[in-house]
Amino acid sequence: MKTALITGVTGQDGSYLTEFLLSKGYKVYGFVRRTSEMKRARIDPLHSNPNFKLVYGDLCDSSSILNALRKAMPDEIYNLAAQSHVKISFEIPEYTADANGVGVVRMLEAIRRVEEETGKKIRFYQASTSELYGKAVEIPQKETTSFYPRSPYGIAKLYAFWITKNYRESYGMFACNGILFNHESPRRGENFVTRKITIEVAKIKEGISKCIYLGNLDAKRDWGHAKDYIEGMWLMLQKEKPDDYVLATGENHSVREFLEEAFRVAGIPIKSNGKKGIHEEYIRTDTGEAVVKIDPSYYRPAEVDVLLGDPSKAKKELGWKPKVMFRDLVKEMIDADMKLLQKELYGSKGRR
Ligand code: NAP
Ligand code: GDD
Repeated sequence: MKTALITGVTGQDGSYLTEFLLSKGYKVYGFVRRTSEMKRARIDPLHSNPNFKLVYGDLCDSSSILNALRKAMPDEIYNLAAQSHVKISFEIPEYTADANGVGVVRMLEAIRRVEEETGKKIRFYQASTSELYGKAVEIPQKETTSFYPRSPYGIAKLYAFWITKNYRESYGMFACNGILFNHESPRRGENFVTRKITIEVAKIKEGISKCIYLGNLDAKRDWGHAKDYIEGMWLMLQKEKPDDYVLATGENHSVREFLEEAFRVAGIPIKSNGKKGIHEEYIRTDTGEAVVKIDPSYYRPAEVDVLLGDPSKAKKELGWKPKVMFRDLVKEMIDADMKLLQKELYGSKGRR
């Protein structure tokens, strides 16, 4: 039986990865922060599995990382923990650098210590990101594309990328970077744009909200499904040699397209008033009400305009391929949020 330690286990990717590894017969240690409330919605259903255990720790606290590794003695570590919101990283840049950047070298040093103490070999996955490409110097972006991060988040992840690569080259560690493009799901955090849209569209459909306030509608992202991407993480650690890989769908869409598709799936007819920037609104054509308005407080000090990934290397070397593409992703997220809301409003049987 293999053992894995997952940081960021309570997050979107951590919860899917835990389920995936448990289904493969792994023992999984989830690395969690101490919180005032014990509820961790995404992993609460997993506690009945005897192969799933929690260890306390924080990427900003070296001793807790070392203790967690000594307790779990993992064969594989998936470092998914991070302050993962790009806009928020402009508000808490120092903390973001500490957790997302320095936190990774703390983890790598702890791995070196445990390997020295025990002779055990540990494989390490670092959650790198397409935000490294930022103001992209070429389209599509692949493993050889130069980086140009545009936020404290991206810059902290740049340090994490290079320190992971450096420890691989300096100490022969089995350390991989997965350069993952945006991936979403019904478990996506509620303040990322896709989930914000699907929650709000569901509320508008049920008549309990009138309008969504958004920022830049013209940014383009390469959006895939989190379930596909966690399988790619695992595949990277099963290779004979460690390397860095892009995971992406190879297709991109604007926030505007996501929004229009979400309303279409929900059966609400909308049309833009055709104005530019903060004056643009989307109007419900059946009622004449404004259902989308622009709130400039959601604009970022520096934006990443276009991301589009080329996953050819992962396809060729890992046999990895995304299964869920844009339209199915939007539909799954809208259906899930409609169901969740109806359960909240009308009880476990849903809408009467
Ligand atoms: P997420 O839902 O925001 O989850 C982040 C996780 O990190 C949570 O479990 C959080 O714990 C934990 N965490 C934050 N700071 C921590 C700290 N100091 N010590 C320990 N744990 C900490 O993120 P995600 O979407 O699953 O993404 C997973 C990873 O992939 C992140 O590193 C993200 O930057 C990266 N990534 C994501 C995407 C994407 O599109 N989703 C794309 C590329 C890269 P709490 O529950 O306690 O807050
Ligand atoms: N969050 C948010 N909220 N974004 C908005 C909004 C809004 O109201 N309105 C427009 N946007 C635009 C943002 O300006 C950005 O261009 C785009 O929607 C996507 O924003 P997010 O969903 O917050 O994701 P992200 O692309 O910035 O970052 C995510 O993907 C990265 C990989 O490329 C995060 O998951 C990062 O952790 C990840 O590394």
